[in-house]
Amino acid sequence: MKQLKLDLSLVETFLQLDEIPSFSEKVLATHHYMLEGATSKNQLLGWHNYPMKDHRGLLSAINELATEVKLQANLCVVIGVGGSFLGARAVQEALTPYFGVHENGVEVVYAGQNMSGPYLKQLLRFMDTREVYVNVISKSGTTMEPALAFRVMEEYMIARYGEEAKQRVIVTTDAVKGALRETAEKKGYRTFSIEETIGGRYSALTAVGLFPLAVAGMDISALLDGARQAALELTSPQLHDNDAYRYAVIRHILHKKGFDVELLASYEPGLASFHEWWKQLFGESEGKEQKGIFPSSVVFSTDLHAIGQYIQEGRRIIFETLIHFNELECDLPVPYLSEDTDQLNYIAGRTFNEINRLSKEGTALAHHEGGVPIIQMELARLDEYHIGYLIYFFMKACAMSAYLLEVDPFDQPGVDAYKQKMLDLLKAPVVTHGGK
Ligand code: PA5
Repeated sequence: MKQLKLDLSLVETFLQLDEIPSFSEKVLATHHYMLEGATSKNQLLGWHNYPMKDHRGLLSAINELATEVKLQANLCVVIGVGGSFLGARAVQEALTPYFGVHENGVEVVYAGQNMSGPYLKQLLRFMDTREVYVNVISKSGTTMEPALAFRVMEEYMIARYGEEAKQRVIVTTDAVKGALRETAEKKGYRTFSIEETIGGRYSALTAVGLFPLAVAGMDISALLDGARQAALELTSPQLHDNDAYRYAVIRHILHKKGFDVELLASYEPGLASFHEWWKQLFGESEGKEQKGIFPSSVVFSTDLHAIGQYIQEGRRIIFETLIHFNELECDLPVPYLSEDTDQLNYIAGRTFNEINRLSKEGTALAHHEGGVPIIQMELARLDEYHIGYLIYFFMKACAMSAYLLEVDPFDQPGVDAYKQKMLDLLKAPVVTHGGK
């Protein structure tokens, strides 16, 4: 049985009968192109076969160091931006209790994903109240945000822990090159390597994501098992037999019909950061050469009271991709009130998860009637295994989608434009502003 059920019942009315099959040949050719690229050292397709490889050595090294962190600290600060932190945060927030930390892990927080003075200053104050490890992650080693945050954190760790700081700083970077690799070697920090053929936004299942997640208490073997299952299920070159490719083709067809915005939707607030990971994956992979679907996201039912009105009746440029996990960690029933002052006794005894699911079903029907195509994805349980599956599913679909648009899924040339303007301003005469 497939781990992900792709339900097209609320999208079919927007498609012609022969529209999906008309992409079969293009998909076949792209599939073979990807397979060849996956064995080349010059292409960023290393993620493609990654789950099929033997990672026992890496897993035991990660688990061993994570155990040390859990014994010596109660806080791990992960420094990174873009693909170097979004994957870890996505899985951590999806699977950690809403309040408190995971019973098998310690608190993991993030830095270097912004340049906010208050954020960093307050984080330093917070670190004073905890025993700390730092994991700095940057493939290039030169990205401004994490480099600046690491400058501050390294100084803090040395001032606070002296010689012991060497033990408490873990570096994840390119295996041989880059400023961070040089620093790690010079200072004697322990390291994890990022595969040369895996780019940032495709690296969630490597040490980039796995180490912070092991520290946070996640079962990283199960995460990789789920990804491996996806890689196995999604090997077919045939469009009709490969759901990642079907998803890619359907969103491509919708895009051509003027549905330019894709909303990733779910009903569990813990998935909000998973949405952010997905947005980066698709946005940076497809948004180039004036092409690409704009990836956005909503967490319902919260957002039904924010942009639900637009989705129902605004411009018809939106389609939804709705993810649903059947089984969640816990649940509770609506209590019975003898006076029924709020007149909700008619649902007393039904559980919140059940009501949330009915809200999903009702909302999907209403949005569909309002002219919104909805691609529905259903997985058995919100856990490491199924999240690992979904990560691989989306990476494979994303590469295919970008190739269908005839753009390179693995570069991000547009990101340099803002950096150049910022550098010009940074080199201009200094203007000081106040701050806490
Ligand atoms: O997907 C990508 O390649 C980017 O989002 C990078 O992950 C991001 O820019 C961070 O790069 P680095 O890891 O080199 O600091």
